[in-house]
Amino acid sequence: MPALIPPPLSLYIHFPWCVRKCPYCDFNSYTLHGELVEAEYIAALERDLEAQLPFVGGRTVVSVFMGGGTPSLFSPTAVARVLGMVRTRLNLAPDAEITMEANPGTIERGRFADYRAAGLTRVSLGAQSFDAARLAVLGRIHSADETRRAAEELHAAGLDNFNLDLMYALPQQDVSGALRDVEEALALEPAHLSHYQLTLEAGTVFAGQPPSLPDDDEAAEMLSVCRDRLAASGFAQYEVSAYARAGRQCRHNLNYWTFGDYLGIGAGAHGKITGGSSARAAGSAADIVRTWQTREPRRYLADPVGALSRKRIPAEELPFEFMLNALRLVDGFEIPAFAERTGREWIEVASTVRSLRERGLLDCDQSTCRPTPLGLKFLNDVLLSFLAKSPKTIGDSGLSTVVSQGAERPADGFIHRREGP
Ligand SMILES: C[S@@+](CC[C@H](N)C(=O)[O-])C[C@H]1O[C@@H](n2cnc3c(N)ncnc32)[C@H](O)[C@@H]1O
Ligand code: SF4
Repeated sequence: MPALIPPPLSLYIHFPWCVRKCPYCDFNSYTLHGELVEAEYIAALERDLEAQLPFVGGRTVVSVFMGGGTPSLFSPTAVARVLGMVRTRLNLAPDAEITMEANPGTIERGRFADYRAAGLTRVSLGAQSFDAARLAVLGRIHSADETRRAAEELHAAGLDNFNLDLMYALPQQDVSGALRDVEEALALEPAHLSHYQLTLEAGTVFAGQPPSLPDDDEAAEMLSVCRDRLAASGFAQYEVSAYARAGRQCRHNLNYWTFGDYLGIGAGAHGKITGGSSARAAGSAADIVRTWQTREPRRYLADPVGALSRKRIPAEELPFEFMLNALRLVDGFEIPAFAERTGREWIEVASTVRSLRERGLLDCDQSTCRPTPLGLKFLNDVLLSFLAKSPKTIGDSGLSTVVSQGAERPADGFIHRREGP
């Protein structure tokens, strides 16, 4: 078997509270009732990180992503404290990308400047749409003008490396409406745009009372028209739902998609560590371990160390896990990375790859392998070919959402927020 080489290491920090739960959202997020327990939550994050440190030794951390929920409910002082705590315990690269998700409804004047002073280098802003009726159906707490003001604040604070989240195929939306949203977003001069098809997720209000949505053909037309518009404005698609100006791809998400390592702290956070099966094995790359935290904020606050679960990824699942990430990228992956990051031989997947190439779904040469435009469109089918198990088992292991969603979940993190194994 090829030797595993520990890949770059990132840190994900989850903040589980929102002003109000949106009816379409299945993230680990909860309407905040009462006071935000900032100090208690930071203390829990600290204990969580302490407990996980032995598994990463002194490895350098290349990026930090604060996601949610709504991390921007936390004050700039609290965010500075979290990042200070991280810097004290981890070896953060001097040029580390440090992103925070923000809801435009939580941004008052001057707040982004304070977040930048706290250490942020990048922001991901949840715009979703610029159409008042669409925002209302989605239950958003902000108007399009508040999104515009938040973007102005970002530029004024010198945080021009920001992403806007947009969703399309919304209730009562037509192709011109979806295109208008993209144009409104571009006018705010972001560096990055995430464009997600709205999906109905089990357990959400929308799943119980489904709104009427555009059909598949209309949704495909929206995607095609918006993708062309973005390309014409210098935003190249580099992942199923992610578009960026040159050099502005999200480094943190790229680390997930190239099957890199990440620590996950906070309620419901997931991690993946190479060589992390025991403290003594840290750095020896003996195997690959998944970690996941309890989703329940109260349980997390009470005992973040006891609430952490860990499991070695069975070797036979690694080829699928690798492809699940790497084939989301328009440029695919370098073939040697497969063995370096999974410890498995390329020969194990060679016949599947050959058959997908014959069907026009993959495009591979001696050194790289990428999905064709057709392969990207039918990514679920491509991924299923790498799965050693039956669909029943997929559902049992929490992967059903991944393979049933037409590939799309939040680019600024779904792999690390997926249900635990
Ligand atoms: C954690 S939220 C972003 C930050 C903040 N909570 C907010 O909503 O403004 C992550 C993103 O996931 C996307 N998202 C959530 N649920 C979705 C769904 N059911 N279908 C498609 N995209 C979804 C939204 O674009 C959302 O901005
Ligand atoms: S979309 Fe964002 S604001 Fe809405 S519930 Fe989900 S995490 Fe919270």
